Amino acid sequence: MIETFGTFTGIGVGPGPQEFLTLKSFNALMKADKVLVPRAKGSSNSVALTCIKDIDIQQDKIEFLDYPMSNDESLLSSIYLEIAAKIIADLKNKLNLVYITIGDPYIYSTYSYTVNALKELMPEIPISTYPGISSFQALSAALNFPLGQGKEKILILPCPETPDELRGHIEKNENIVLMKIGDRFDWVRNLLSDMDILEHCALGKRIGLDNEILTRDLIELNEDDKPGYLSVVLIRKFPAQGRIGH
Ligand SMILES: C[S@@+](CC[C@H](N)C(=O)[O-])C[C@H]1O[C@@H](n2cnc3c(N)ncnc32)[C@H](O)[C@@H]1O
Repeated sequence: MIETFGTFTGIGVGPGPQEFLTLKSFNALMKADKVLVPRAKGSSNSVALTCIKDIDIQQDKIEFLDYPMSNDESLLSSIYLEIAAKIIADLKNKLNLVYITIGDPYIYSTYSYTVNALKELMPEIPISTYPGISSFQALSAALNFPLGQGKEKILILPCPETPDELRGHIEKNENIVLMKIGDRFDWVRNLLSDMDILEHCALGKRIGLDNEILTRDLIELNEDDKPGYLSVVLIRKFPAQGRIGH
């Protein structure tokens, strides 16, 4: 007898407004027996869950997956395998699972490690992934900020540790999407100012969430508005071009 399984679908949600969800992802959510919600261990909330808060999902279908914030490789691999084993048990019980992740599932997300662990335990597992709107795409759209024109290169980058490293990237690329800025914003802003390109840049903090900041004015940001973890900076080495007069 051929064994049949439930389905596993990873979807991108948000960032922010529920209307950013694709129809395909919405339909998957509506058919889900369980909605798997990743969150940092010790945290009582999940940003991804906030992004679908206005969608009618039965509370008892929601299951949190707690991921430790650690660099300990052996701890991480055992937790990922533990989470994968739980998911596989549900699939064997023919449950349809939807795993939500903020932005796009394959852009800097724990989702990819979870999928790897699932494939390690059960290589034949069918996995569907539906793309989401990444934080930097939501920011460029909200501010009408062209990310790439003509033959410009776009580099997506977790913020480097040093100004010299970032300067090197800016010298080699026209446009940069800077993610995971954390507490490095002060030197990032100083560097952009030294390079005389601060006025071509933009910042999004908590895009689509409460206390959101979307701005092209990085000079006037006050202390409270400075980016933290949930922030993206869009860097243009040259201002965006128009067609008129060219
Ligand atoms: C773990 S990564 C997740 C990226 C996500 N998969 C995406 O496609 O945007 C976290 C980084 O994404 C960015 N980010 C995610 N959500 C954001 C939001 N709502 N506002 C601003 N930045 C966000 C930040 O740069 C943050 O450091």
